[in-house]
Amino acid sequence: MTAVTTGTPTPTPSVGTAHTRVEGRDKVTGAARYAGEIPFADLAHGWLVLSTVARGRIRSVETAPVLAMPGVLAVLDHRNAPRVETDYTGLMGSKPDPTCAVFQHDRVPHLGWPVALVVAETSEQAREAAEALVVHYEQQPHDVDFTGEHPDAYPLDSHMPAVTEKGDLDAELAASAVVVDAEYTTPEEHHNPMEPHAATARWDGGRLEVIDSNQGATWVVGELASLFSLDPASVRVRSEHVGGGFGSKGVRAHQVAAVMAATVLQRPVRVVLTRRQMFSLAGYRSPTTQRVRLGADADGRLRALEHRSLSLTSTVHEFIEPSAGVARVMYDADAHHTANRVVRLDVPTPTWMRAPGEAPGSFALEAALDELAEKCGIDPIDLRLRNEPDKGPVSGLPFAGRNLPACFREGARRFGWADRDPRPGLRRDGRWLLGTGTAAASFGAGAAPSTATLTAHPDGTFTVRIAAADIGTGARTALTLVAADALRVPPERVQVRIGDSDFGPAMIAGGSMGTRSWAWAVTTAAGELLDRLALGTGIPPEGITVRSDTTAAIGALAPAERHSFGAQFAEVAVDTATGEVRVRRMLGIFAAGRIVNPLTARGQFLGGMIWGISMALHEEAVRDRASGGHVGADLAGYHVATHADVPHIEADWIDDPDPRDPVGIKGIGEIGIVGAAAAIANAVWHATGVRHRSLPIRPDRVI
Ligand code: MOS
Repeated sequence: MTAVTTGTPTPTPSVGTAHTRVEGRDKVTGAARYAGEIPFADLAHGWLVLSTVARGRIRSVETAPVLAMPGVLAVLDHRNAPRVETDYTGLMGSKPDPTCAVFQHDRVPHLGWPVALVVAETSEQAREAAEALVVHYEQQPHDVDFTGEHPDAYPLDSHMPAVTEKGDLDAELAASAVVVDAEYTTPEEHHNPMEPHAATARWDGGRLEVIDSNQGATWVVGELASLFSLDPASVRVRSEHVGGGFGSKGVRAHQVAAVMAATVLQRPVRVVLTRRQMFSLAGYRSPTTQRVRLGADADGRLRALEHRSLSLTSTVHEFIEPSAGVARVMYDADAHHTANRVVRLDVPTPTWMRAPGEAPGSFALEAALDELAEKCGIDPIDLRLRNEPDKGPVSGLPFAGRNLPACFREGARRFGWADRDPRPGLRRDGRWLLGTGTAAASFGAGAAPSTATLTAHPDGTFTVRIAAADIGTGARTALTLVAADALRVPPERVQVRIGDSDFGPAMIAGGSMGTRSWAWAVTTAAGELLDRLALGTGIPPEGITVRSDTTAAIGALAPAERHSFGAQFAEVAVDTATGEVRVRRMLGIFAAGRIVNPLTARGQFLGGMIWGISMALHEEAVRDRASGGHVGADLAGYHVATHADVPHIEADWIDDPDPRDPVGIKGIGEIGIVGAAAAIANAVWHATGVRHRSLPIRPDRVI
């Protein structure tokens, strides 16, 4: 027994101080290993074969010649693959996307649909054999055309109602002194995390173990257990380091295929997606067509607000990009109508991608607000401040903190907004036209139940175990700081272990809810552990362990509109000769709860804002109508902002702790991208006098 050494308040709290990543050294020295590179004895490699037609049936698969190739162990397709269960409701509250239930039938619903898995001794042998596999199809006509309207479009309720309607829209528009009626479009966009998706599956003494790159081990366990009709306790998913996710790293075809092959061959099987395969199998953001109608009195007060969004989904699964949802949070009006509609096409199922709904939705809504400001002759910031709602415009619920005006005031001061001449097309720097723009941002700030296990060791150190995922956000480090403060010890005495489903159920790294949800569980467990240690019975060699579950505490939160908010500012230069748009500087000021680690939080905000530059100016996945597949499905053909595109950017925040959260956290994961593209588009208008309502703002559209 050793004396208890805790309970002494540390001189300075760790939360709120900049801390480099606890695993940073491992990452930069290559010691950190990712899912696709962890060695296994007797490892076999699977390579997915994807359909080359956009709709039809598989007539035959010429397996025999491929089975005779060097090293080939098996070919799984719809005739011989294990059957899986698909009639269940998953952890995310929806039916599984049948794309994950691979090799169950001969139908092909889109180009890039997984039709077979070739397994071989080496990755190279598997790839060569997969590329040699001949599949015959009965091809059927397909439709991949996402146009502004579609006769088959329908409203789709998802986690929010598809349609909300308050008041008489036509009457309020007719009574308005100023009206904006505009259509905005955003293209198909892809997550492209740096680390491709990879999974290794193996059976280990009756347990299924999957080494994976995902955003939540609990999520993957739940889906795999359901698909393969297993007791969740007999499935273990580990995900030590994850090189980006952005919504794409849930359960996808490659994990399921790896489990199938490991089951059939009774040896470990790894399946890694190529960058090109990710364009078909990792999900993506649907293109959107959005119509925004605003009607206002001459003083800018909104009488009418309509936001209608159309996105696409596949023929096998319903997923909606709820772009009109942002209008339900941002602005009220006497008549307030929103609608999220969807059309089914012969394409892969889209999925969550950073700020799903808010990213494209804020582009349309915040650009429309800028158009209204111009027509009213009111400063765009003043217009927004005049339309600050005092409660949820649709829900009627109180806001649990809405510090948007403070963000605008601080942002305007630091950006130098007061000196701005509102007239467009006046500022020149050689052949460049200069302009500035602003936009508001919001993203939901929720928490979900999680469990955390804390152990006090006799040497005065502590171990935290929680099935959190660090997808590059710095979550492991943030939780170290949170645990240190909750335990009243320096962070050096805390070791945080994450990415293992055996640590108990926990929220995924998603919805900007990861750190808040996990920190709540860690803080709760720390409180219980300190109570135990205060009994003064000493710590046995195996330590003292407590486990928390925040289900009841989070369930007891009073209903409210919970969001982080922000104000985005951009200055652009537009080349009058080439049409090139360059962002010269950006500033984002956020009200996003208590900031746990300023160093990594700043990185989160900047990453989102840089993605906003990318969204505004570069990103666009192009589908070929004839083949139904992508043109240039790689990082050469799909342009993302690079260093040369990213100027001086500042992200900062105002003091905004959430009093209803044990640590004061709201959420910072997604809001950085929200409003960023609108601020840039509004700046392009200010530079040129031309409204660009379709993203990306390519040179050929500007010229
Ligand atoms: Mo985020 S789109 O919830 O990973």
